Amino acid sequence: MDHKSHQGPASRALEVWRTRGTKELLRRVAARLESMVFKTNSAVWFGKELLSAVPAPASSGPAPLQLGGGLITKNELAAQTIAASQVGGDVPGDFAAVEPRELGEWLRQSSGLAWAVDVRELEIAAECGHRWTSWTLGGETVAFCKVGGRRVFMVDFDRPLDLPARVAYLSDVYVVSQMRRRGIGRALLAGTLGFLRENSFSGVVCHIPGSNEPSAHLFRSLGFAPLGEVRFTRVLGIPLFSTRPEKLLEKMSSKCGSPKSARSTDIHRKSTS
Ligand SMILES: CC(C)(COP(=O)(O)OP(=O)(O)OC[C@H]1O[C@@H](n2cnc3c(N)ncnc32)[C@H](O)[C@@H]1OP(=O)(O)O)[C@@H](O)C(=O)NCCC(=O)NCCS
Repeated sequence: MDHKSHQGPASRALEVWRTRGTKELLRRVAARLESMVFKTNSAVWFGKELLSAVPAPASSGPAPLQLGGGLITKNELAAQTIAASQVGGDVPGDFAAVEPRELGEWLRQSSGLAWAVDVRELEIAAECGHRWTSWTLGGETVAFCKVGGRRVFMVDFDRPLDLPARVAYLSDVYVVSQMRRRGIGRALLAGTLGFLRENSFSGVVCHIPGSNEPSAHLFRSLGFAPLGEVRFTRVLGIPLFSTRPEKLLEKMSSKCGSPKSARSTDIHRKSTS
């Protein structure tokens, strides 16, 4: 693991100050202090097995994640791995798997959604060889989601979470507001599931705040089933979980028959070593 890419709080603060200004830095410091005193959130975790006919890549051959380096795939991937009816058939646009840094840059600089990306999640995504996915229309990004294996940074808990082997974590599916209700969210997720199958993942989990009905409806319709609810509370720096997320991950892992250790079958490591 490359520890050099880790940024401490001081360098992160410096980066925010350099890129976003003093006002944003102060806002973040205040929010951080407030969240140290009290923070709470609650979400239902969903999981889906990804058993499919797509064969695992040979361990000696190049893994799909190595292709390109930036945008590694366009519609061909969706066409290869997903039934047209599942993707939504005639939804216009292109599915792509992208470098998190590339999408992170777009989120920070040009999307107006700078809040949707955290430096710590970008660092872990880069270390673990994640790819995020996007949907583009006429060259413009109109939707994205974050996805990856081995380890993710959970913004909700302010800490990383280790994932079982071959289980991916998917988060922050987002369609720009003017493009919603046109099938793009469904097509993006269907493309993402195909991408995960293609990369030998056997399961995927996500967590959805209880109040987000549209999202829960969408995930259920794609075959995701609830694994359990996680209520997180942190009082004066002490984290408390109603159910530990690791327990739900184990449940998912045994459902899809994944080995317990992520290290032995880590396709992302293989692809980057
Ligand atoms: C949730 C979200 C990604 C859905 O994207 P979308 O492109 O509008 O979704 P689609 O057009 O593909 O619709 C997918 C399904 O969700 C349903 N749906 C979408 N928005 C809905 C809404 N506001 N209310 C009820 N159902 C909704 C659609 O009816 C469709 O179901 P159907 O095929 O059974 O009719 C989008 O609303 C969004 O970006 N929301 C803000 C971010 C967010 O909440 N993300 C989820 C984080 S967990």
